[in-house]
Amino acid sequence: MGQFASGVTIMTTTAAGRMHGMTVSAFASQSLDPLLILVSVERSTEMHKLVMASRVFAINILGEHAEGTARFFADNARLKGPEFVAGAYHVGVSGAPLLNEAVAYLEATVHSTLEAGDHSVIVGQVTALEVRSEVEPLVYYRSGYRRLD
Ligand SMILES: Cc1cc2nc3c(=O)[nH]c(=O)nc-3n(C[C@H](O)[C@H](O)[C@H](O)COP(=O)(O)O)c2cc1C
Repeated sequence: MGQFASGVTIMTTTAAGRMHGMTVSAFASQSLDPLLILVSVERSTEMHKLVMASRVFAINILGEHAEGTARFFADNARLKGPEFVAGAYHVGVSGAPLLNEAVAYLEATVHSTLEAGDHSVIVGQVTALEVRSEVEPLVYYRSGYRRLD
């Protein structure tokens, strides 16, 4: 899979008064009509537990300057303190936090899930979306963060 270049997103949700985010590259468009997206989430993650409870999530697509954010939301050390800093996010219609630095975001309700191996494919029905910036994307390739050149 290292030979496959992907974009980098932060999946976010909120459940039982707790906001949570995690770095996700297994994100794709699933359907145009209706508008569906999918993510593949490891079942052992906090995110899996929380999104199965809340049934809502957001996908924040990262721009090329957001490598630090991608590293932060993939590191368990973030769980020791607040994951979201006031002024760096706002709450979407879904209740999920949206990162102000994201180049675009989509919000979704869980449409369906498929358990496959140690991950679940979570299909989301898009409820809101916004393109916020034309900044070029952050890319993940061969276990490293890259930019388009
Ligand atoms: C670039 C990158 C992409 C990732 N993509 C995914 C993914 O698509 N699905 C997934 O379950 N974990 C993915 N991870 C791993 C999670 O971000 C990581 O395990 C995270 O700490 C889990 O958070 P949680 O258990 O606190 O919810 C990725 C990590 C990195 C660095």
